[in-house]
Amino acid sequence: MKALLDVLAPHDPDYSLARAIDPDRLPEHIAIIMDGNGRWARRRSLPRVAGHKAGIQPVRATVETCARLGLRALTLYAFSVENWKRPRAEVETLWRLLHLYLRRELAEMHRHDIRFTAIGRIDELPGFVRQELQSTIDSTAANSGLQLNLAINYGGRAELVDAVKALVDDARRGAVIDEAAISARLYTAGMPDPDLLIRTSGEMRVSNFLLWQIAYAELYVTETLWPDFTRAELLRAILDYQKRDRRFGGIQEVNLPDADVMEPVSVPSR
Ligand code: FPP
Repeated sequence: MKALLDVLAPHDPDYSLARAIDPDRLPEHIAIIMDGNGRWARRRSLPRVAGHKAGIQPVRATVETCARLGLRALTLYAFSVENWKRPRAEVETLWRLLHLYLRRELAEMHRHDIRFTAIGRIDELPGFVRQELQSTIDSTAANSGLQLNLAINYGGRAELVDAVKALVDDARRGAVIDEAAISARLYTAGMPDPDLLIRTSGEMRVSNFLLWQIAYAELYVTETLWPDFTRAELLRAILDYQKRDRRFGGIQEVNLPDADVMEPVSVPSR
């Protein structure tokens, strides 16, 4: 948090937003569905790929801000298993942009102590992308700040299929299958679940993203198209999150009519 205030001058409009954030109630993990690149380009009569190129700057700003805030994890949805249905030239441009991004940002990742990871069916990606991903993962593996996690060739249902295959083997070996066992077999094993899911461009859907992990995430949907997403909007999303009453299926303590007559019941084991 301090690292963010350090780079903001008091007259910067983002300064008052950053000051309003409660550093003790930050989300541990933010996940973002970066949507609207195509519409951004169309509104400017540009080819769709121009929208993807313009989408890199908000990626950089968002990653840097999350690192400066001291968040534990940021997961960005960069390419879904369904995105292969797009024109080949667009898909190839996305691979080139990702490759370029990883090359150009490595020094920044180290500067901010960022550990890079990727989730999805990575083995199906073109070789030059796989190599750059692996080399970024290896190079940043010892960093201990923000975990920047890119979802690439990712699908929530595909992830569950992959997890179930592993769980069937676990069960055959006598393992207990419970919620913790399922979480441990997801691509995100070891990561905290997202507390806040942001989606740009106004669509009210989760689009096969982190289906298991977002069970209790707070949702923030903005009409802003991804290339226009700014640090200010990210800070506003976090402020909005801090206003939410997260009950995880329980009720707020102050609403209890009488503590004596409301004895908690024991939770049945599954
Ligand atoms: C969705 O917009 C966006 C994508 C499928 C790709 C996301 C890619 C980037 C933000 C750029 C590069 C990213 C990295 C990590 C280097 P859309 O094309 O579906 O937009 P539309 O719904 O308006 O058509």
